[in-house]
This record gives sequence, C-alpha cells and structure tokens, in this order.
Amino acid sequence: MAGEGEGSMNKPDWRAALEPAFEAALSYLEGLPERRVRPQVGPDPMLAAIDEPLREHGLPAGDVVRTLARAADPGLNAMPSGRFFGWVIGGGLPAAVAADWLTSAWDQNSGMAPPTPAAAAFEQVALRWIVELLELPATCSSALVTGAQMANTTCLAAARNRVLASAGHDVESEGLIGAPRVSIVVSAERHDTVLRALRLLGLGAGRALAVATDARGAMRPDALRAVLAPLSGPTIVCAQIGNVNTGAIDPMPAICDAVDELRARAGQRAVWLHADGAFGLWARASAKLRDRAAGSERADSWATDAHKWLNTPYDCGIAIVKDPDAHRRAMAVRAAYLPDPDAHAARNPMDWTPEFSRRARGFAVYAALRQLGAQGVCELIDRCCDHARAFASQLGVLPGVRVLCPVELNQALVRFEHPDGGGDRARDDAHTRDVVRRVQDEGTCFMSETVWQGLAAMRISVSNWSTDEDDVRRSVASIARAHALRT
Ligand SMILES: Cc1ncc(COP(=O)(O)O)c(C=O)c1O
Repeated sequence: MAGEGEGSMNKPDWRAALEPAFEAALSYLEGLPERRVRPQVGPDPMLAAIDEPLREHGLPAGDVVRTLARAADPGLNAMPSGRFFGWVIGGGLPAAVAADWLTSAWDQNSGMAPPTPAAAAFEQVALRWIVELLELPATCSSALVTGAQMANTTCLAAARNRVLASAGHDVESEGLIGAPRVSIVVSAERHDTVLRALRLLGLGAGRALAVATDARGAMRPDALRAVLAPLSGPTIVCAQIGNVNTGAIDPMPAICDAVDELRARAGQRAVWLHADGAFGLWARASAKLRDRAAGSERADSWATDAHKWLNTPYDCGIAIVKDPDAHRRAMAVRAAYLPDPDAHAARNPMDWTPEFSRRARGFAVYAALRQLGAQGVCELIDRCCDHARAFASQLGVLPGVRVLCPVELNQALVRFEHPDGGGDRARDDAHTRDVVRRVQDEGTCFMSETVWQGLAAMRISVSNWSTDEDDVRRSVASIARAHALRT
C-alpha cells in the first residue's frame, strides 16, 4: 500500500516518486566534476548501513526514493565522471541517460515488434546506424544485448551453429552430444569473456588453442598460421580488436588471410572468424584510426559495446553477424502464445538475442547516436585517444615512471619505480600498486591496476565523452603526488 498523502496502487502519484529521483540524479550528475571519484565507503559498511529486515508495511514512494538516494550516495563510484579511468567504462551522454529514464518509464518488454513497435523500430534504426558507422556489410544481422560478454556469446553461438551445420550436425536440435569436434583458436591475450562464452556454449574454454601475441598483445599471424596448419574440420577463430590492457588491434588482414587458407582446405562454411571489439571496434568510426582496424570487416561476426565507448548508460552490448541465417537459427524462439514472427515482416528483437523478456535498450543507443551524429562519434573516439596519449607523454617524463606500451587507442599502461630506485622488480610492483591505491584514495581520479607481461601496472582507460584537458592535467598531478610518496 502506498502511504498517506500519495496515490493508491490504482492511481499512483508518479510525481511524488519521480521528482525526488530527478533532484537526486541532477545533484549527482551536476556534482560529478568536483565529486571524489571513489566511493566514500567500502562494501562492508555500505551493506551494514542498509541491511535490515523487510518491513511489514510499505512506505510512500517519494520517501523510498529520497531515502534510497541518500543511503546509496556514499557507496557510489563516480563512474560517469570525466576523471574516471578505471577498466573500460564510459559515462552516459545526457541524451542517452534521459532516454534511458524514459525507457524505464515506458517499461516496454521489447522482445517482439508487433506489441512494442516503438522499441523495435528505434533499436532497428540504431543498429543500422552502428553497422554503417563501423563500415560493416549492410546485410549483417545485429542485436542489442547486455554487454560484450553476451555479444561474444551470441556471435559464438551463431558460429557454433554454422560450423557444425557444415559438418552435417544440427546443434540446435541435437546439442553437442555426438557432434564433430570443433577446433577453437583464440589469442593468448583474448578477453576472459571469450573463454566464458566458450564455457556457456559447451565448447570448453580449456580446449581452446592459444595463439602467441607480440609485445603489444596483438595476435601474431605467423603463430596463427602454425596453429591452423594441422586443422581441417569445423573451426572458430577469435581475434581481438582492442586489447583490454594496451588497446592493441590484432593485424586483421594477415589473420583473415590465414583463416582464408584454412577455409580453402576445410570448406567455406566450416570456418568462422569472430572479432571481439568491445571498445576497439569503434576505431572503425574514426577517420584517423580506421586504417588500424582495416580488414576487420572480413570477419564473420563482431562483438562490441555501446556502454563503453558510445557512452550509453549501463548496460548495452552489440552483436553483429555476417550470416543472419546462422544468427537467427542460434537465437530464434517460438511460442504459441506469442505473435507469429513469420506472419509479419518486422524484425523481432528476441529472435537475435539470448534473452526473451528484455529492456528496450535501443532508445538510449538511438539517443546517443543522435546527440553525437557521425561526426561526434568520430570526435569522441579521437578525443579519448588524444587524452590517453597526453597521459602517456605527461607521465612518461616524470622520473621513475615508465610507459609500458605505445598508446594505440584510448588505453595507457604505466609503471612506477620505487623512489629509492634500485630496479627491484617486486618493490616496483608493490610501489605501482601503492600508487594506484593512493590515487584511488585521494579521489581526484580513478585508475585500476593490472599485470602486464609479469609487471604490475596502472591502467588508464579514457572512455568518457566529458573528459577534457583539465581532467587529464589534474589526474596527472594526483598520480605524481602518489608516486612521490614512499610506502
Ligand atoms: C576486449 C573485451 N572484450 C570483452 C569485454 C567485456 O565487456 P562487457 O563488460 O561489456 O561484457 C571487455 C571489457 O572490458 C573487453 O575489453
């Protein structure tokens, strides 16, 4: 029951709930430029602060929202801040955040086109624009999913369908029992979500053949050729456009040539090349960077994200597949109580995704693309890369700071030598981790850590539309302060 002074469940007072939400959202978003980036409290005190038994009686919606906003605030990480550089995380563009609010208000279960034509149409148009921006074949099928994890899974399900069908096995009907062996080839630097996708699909992460990479973390075509040489049956090769640590893009023309040689032996339909481009695929939308991702259009499928570099709010990934038939066979679903998808020409979103009920993510993607325009997407990608290079050059001149890899896209990797020098690896590892922790604690900006080729490193990922030169300058100063301190 709603509380006194508010509408009943039958006649809700939306204003009482949405106005405090609007105020709290505005205060958070407008406060981002000066807010400490890291959360003020850790997981345990956060949980302790709100962990109470469910009360017997409800509360007025407005009170719930006000209390929720107040209670959550100390545990919020300012991920949409222009000075958040952790992992690979974008911040929602204003039009996309607003569209996402409307998505919740409209509350469309967007699996089917006939009952939710607006959700289906905006999604279809947004996906078409993305395929155009990324200069991929217009005949590709595509889907909005939760993230690159599910985009990889969706694409690899289509791959599994097609390569096994080429060997006369219907995996959708028969499963993997009695199926011919599928060889899986991945880069030694593949993202772990590719391995999880293989696990989810019954293809086995442990069986994947790993191809050696170069010093930047890009797949070596000579090593790929050596791995492919003994293969002749159904095979799925997973390349990567954008290494999560270095941003390195696999050399796609040479990889595609090697895969084509295998196709010539094993059969065109027996071999599938998938490209995980969670953020790096967006290089194809930039006139300056496009050449680096050239050749990736020759892959059979691509996974990417809108919530990373396109700056839609969480969550939204994108699966794009060159063989719509394999894609649809892997995903489509039929039920007597649903509109017959064959009875209408409209694209049914749920036929292309692993989800049945689903959020109408297309509104936010459409809004982000409309706010930016093609030129704006290109500028966003270029600007983030410029800032990543600025980080590397401003940090690289500080004594005891090593930039571990050339900046290829929007990722910079830096390591900090202990101020006492001496080049002790373990001490430099510990100092690097301390620098990351001190920077996070200070709160001017937020970077995450990693291990790159056995060395602890700070990862700096510039993925936010609002990051400017001042954010970079303030963040470099914060890192320099943290580096100057001794443990
Ligand atoms: C190359 C790559 N693939 C996949 C993923 C997973 O993306 P998501 O978190 O959207 O599932 C990431 C995340 O950073 C990534 O960098």
